[in-house]
Amino acid sequence: MPAMTVNDAPVMFDMDPETPLLWALRDAANLTGTKYGCGVGDCGACMVLIDGEALRSCLVTIAEAEGRTITTIEGLSRDRSHPVQQALVAEQAIQCGFCTPGIVMAAASLLRRNPDPSEADIREAIPNLCRCGVYPRLIAAVQRAGRVTRRRETISAAPAPGIDPADAARAVPAMGPASGGEADGGTTEPED
Ligand code: FES
Ligand code: FES
Repeated sequence: MPAMTVNDAPVMFDMDPETPLLWALRDAANLTGTKYGCGVGDCGACMVLIDGEALRSCLVTIAEAEGRTITTIEGLSRDRSHPVQQALVAEQAIQCGFCTPGIVMAAASLLRRNPDPSEADIREAIPNLCRCGVYPRLIAAVQRAGRVTRRRETISAAPAPGIDPADAARAVPAMGPASGGEADGGTTEPED
């Protein structure tokens, strides 16, 4: 049973080790913020952070994720206060929102490496597909998030608070405290 850390919680997936991480996150851990777009590595909708690097979770098996630290959109911030989340809302760079979680993770990874990216840097680091075509606003939003990261700007119109972490833990078994047994859907707390 591959074990890893997901959004700061130890998780063990009682699933075939060749299961794509995307399926484990969505179907077993109930972390449905990570989206299934193409399933073959083209769209980027499934991007999560693996040890801080934005990777397509449809292309990573849970065996390959063994021992690594996974961050999904649910774990990026508890209150949607990450600069990328704030800037995407402020710049209205979201339409249907299906591509947004993957884009947020790619942008967050980019800003960790480079908080002052050029347009070319952003295009290279965020190859995600958006069928709604938010690309021009996306460039502005990521650069604005970079300014927030560099403390050159604050965004006053912050998004509304997210769900309470305690409520999230109740709704997402894999995120809750140790329950002492296998959870529904294929996750279980790792043994000591
Ligand atoms: S679902 Fe993974 S890249 Fe499209
Ligand atoms: S906002 Fe709709 S796919 Fe990008």
